[in-house]
Amino acid sequence: MKFPENFLWGGATSAVQCEGGYDKGGRGLANVDLVPVGQDRYAVGSGDLHANDFDPQAFYPTKSAIDLYHNYEEDIALLGEMGFKVYRFSISWTRIFPNGDEKEPNQEGLQFYKNIIKECGKYGIEPLVTISHFECPMGLVEKFGGWRDRRMVEEYAKYAKTLFEEFQGSVKYWITFNEINMVLHLPFVAAGIRFDEGENRNQVMITAVHHQLVASALATKLAHEIDPDNQIGCMMAAGPHYPETCKPRDYWKAMEDDRENYMFIDVQSWGYYPQYALNWVAKRNAEIPFIDGDRELLRNHPVDFVSFSYYSSHVSTSEENRTDVTPGNVFQSIVNPHLKSSEWGWQIDPLGLRITLNLLSDRYRKPLFIVENGLGAKDRVEDNGKIQDDYRINYLQEHILAMRDAVSEDGIDLIGYTTWGCIDLVSNTSGEMEKRYGFVYVDLDNEGAGTRKRLKKDSFEWYKKVIASNGECL
Ligand code: BG6
Repeated sequence: MKFPENFLWGGATSAVQCEGGYDKGGRGLANVDLVPVGQDRYAVGSGDLHANDFDPQAFYPTKSAIDLYHNYEEDIALLGEMGFKVYRFSISWTRIFPNGDEKEPNQEGLQFYKNIIKECGKYGIEPLVTISHFECPMGLVEKFGGWRDRRMVEEYAKYAKTLFEEFQGSVKYWITFNEINMVLHLPFVAAGIRFDEGENRNQVMITAVHHQLVASALATKLAHEIDPDNQIGCMMAAGPHYPETCKPRDYWKAMEDDRENYMFIDVQSWGYYPQYALNWVAKRNAEIPFIDGDRELLRNHPVDFVSFSYYSSHVSTSEENRTDVTPGNVFQSIVNPHLKSSEWGWQIDPLGLRITLNLLSDRYRKPLFIVENGLGAKDRVEDNGKIQDDYRINYLQEHILAMRDAVSEDGIDLIGYTTWGCIDLVSNTSGEMEKRYGFVYVDLDNEGAGTRKRLKKDSFEWYKKVIASNGECL
């Protein structure tokens, strides 16, 4: 059984993780620009960073990243060579509105993305644009405190409207926010939030997400008004929670953990907060900051499709204080003894992808789009310049098989599949370059040293065949 004729095979990146050129073309400073590489990236990425702390002389991994800003022609040509049908990339908000609050967009920034879209067009690649992928102008973080402030909704709507108007007819698929459930795990990176001493952090986070949900519904409204062909998606970091045992309490905990992940895309897909979400908020002594018109806006403008990233499943337990947790993962999960792990401790579970597709399909009855999946691994360049990444091929092969079962046996309505980091880029959680996902290797190390030369890995030719055979040759 084949994938549908028009199945969108491709890959995904985000602006801040690959573009570099942080001060080029009038771009302003973004929150992620301040987050360093290394062990404490996480802690700092959730904390107290200020625009004045940015030292232009210091090394930050996203400052130059892989310099896609200057190499986009060569890079997109490589994606074209693999036969990509779709390329998911994000637009850097601070290239379009450098400080966030300007009245007019920065033309140089718009031109950069027009060039990217034009390059995609050369190879028949459909763009899939993430409007906000873990990026917020530092100008708005300083002025408003990020998404905790309602005024972010207007700034985002102005930015999104600019994109819909500028790229009308050339971009059809849009994602409003990357992994919206991550606001609860990476508040600074995902929502520009810095906490004050002693404040109710849950209140701040739920306020920020509510503003994003309203902004997402408003963007969906605008997108459909500007061009009824626009297709708007929500996006979550997915992966089912398995109960550790058949103890009912473990099942209950797994259900609660799953719900915490679904909570926000439920609102984007259904148009209202389900009762369990209202309970979640109330239990944390928080309130959703509704104002007049919010409920109608959410209800009248749900998304067209549901997209998600999938790297791993998780294990939930009702026991307190367990220490056997998986390392390096934003989600706290205890180790699943039945699964292998990546070098970063992310557990590998292809069947979990099929389970996820079924759960999301049952829940939303909307087309699904897998917009991130892949294996972060250390690659070695042989003396002859070859990179034998059979581990990556195996990982993707097993996940594509699971996806094929979901499409052919379970009848899931799946639009496409974009592997994460199709060209090596800076890791979000560690800031490292050496956590590589790509089909294309980039000669660059964790300290920013290297030629940035691009090399094809073995997986490059493999994925090219997968696409050419529409998923038959794995
Ligand atoms: C997703 C993000 O959470 O996972 C990406 O949307 C990120 O931005 C990807 O890069 C992989 O995570 P990491 O930490 O390996 O880069």
